[in-house]
Amino acid sequence: MAETFEPKNIIVTGGCGFIGSNFVHYVVNKHPGVHVTVLDKLTYAGNEENIAGLPEDRVELVVGDICDAELLDRIVPGHDAIVHYAAESHNDNSIADPEPFLRTNVEGTFRLLEAVRKYGVRYHHVSTDEVYGDLALDDPARFTEETPYRPSSPYSSTKAASDMLVRAWTRTYGLRTTISNCSNNYGPYQHVEKFIPRQITNIIDGVRPKLYGTGENVRDWIHTEDHSSAVWTILTKGRMGETYLIGADGERNNITVLRMILEMMGKSPDDFDWVKDRPGHDRRYAIDSTKLQTELGWRPAHNDFAEGLRKTIEWYKANESWWRPAKAATEARYKAQGQ
Ligand SMILES: NC(=O)c1ccc[n+]([C@@H]2O[C@H](COP(=O)([O-])OP(=O)(O)OC[C@H]3O[C@@H](n4cnc5c(N)ncnc54)[C@H](O)[C@@H]3O)[C@@H](O)[C@H]2O)c1
Repeated sequence: MAETFEPKNIIVTGGCGFIGSNFVHYVVNKHPGVHVTVLDKLTYAGNEENIAGLPEDRVELVVGDICDAELLDRIVPGHDAIVHYAAESHNDNSIADPEPFLRTNVEGTFRLLEAVRKYGVRYHHVSTDEVYGDLALDDPARFTEETPYRPSSPYSSTKAASDMLVRAWTRTYGLRTTISNCSNNYGPYQHVEKFIPRQITNIIDGVRPKLYGTGENVRDWIHTEDHSSAVWTILTKGRMGETYLIGADGERNNITVLRMILEMMGKSPDDFDWVKDRPGHDRRYAIDSTKLQTELGWRPAHNDFAEGLRKTIEWYKANESWWRPAKAATEARYKAQGQ
């Protein structure tokens, strides 16, 4: 299908975070005619290093808050699209202190939608499959665009709320928007608080990895580069007002992923400790991305999870100077939360 929208000058919110920065790299590498303005508050999860070295004439960083309406008035005019990644993104943090999640994920989206309304730019909203809650472990069903919202955690409830704002603003004010709900991402530049990087960096540090609950919880893994190509596809070819689910058939339970990491790093597959489960921990996520594949022709390129995981481990081994500064504070936060 031909691209129906050819953006030239886009704003990427949260472009110094894990998935946002991978998207910025993706756009710079694959779409030479596009300029990217990254709008990022540089919270504990944002790191300028994630976009360091990209050509200055292609990527500009504006350090600021998506909740700052005056800042949006200054930077949005002149752009033709906003791709919205910025969020408070970590479930455990949302349980310990939900307030920043309300502010950034709900109020931040509201501010962006108001700017979209004012300046008539195209808007793509990046969301999560966690808005759908969870599936039973023995349930063969997968999430589709028709699955009712049933979020479990403060994090996923604020993402669900933000999706609803986008739908309401689209219907009421006729905004040009699309939404995507993606499954769990892995790859380079992911903060050490998240499941895969935490396990890898603990093993590098000679610390036994920790596994929540029974480890049976299933996540549907997708390489972050496939998420980026899917978002680009939706931004350029998606139908206005539509939601697309993004997933790459990567279902694996947590204990399997941990054992793969241990074995790839030369450890015994039983070399880990069990810890108390996260309250309200979702059991299983699984995405049916048929709509995105059949309607827009998107396909994932990273179909070998073991290969992607091996490369991710190599990336963390080679980039210790990137993750080391955040490691001690992250583990201290987990310890305070009893994990
Ligand atoms: N991580 C996943 O597996 C996953 C899966 C599906 C969807 N998502 C969604 O993708 C997006 C990015 O997730 P991530 O894992 O890269 O998150 P992240 O925590 O790594 O990055 C978030 C970025 O947003 C920035 N930010 C936070 N609050 C801000 C504010 N008020 N103003 C401006 N910038 C702010 C941070 O500085 C950081 O750079 C989120 O919307 C998340 O819900 C994530």
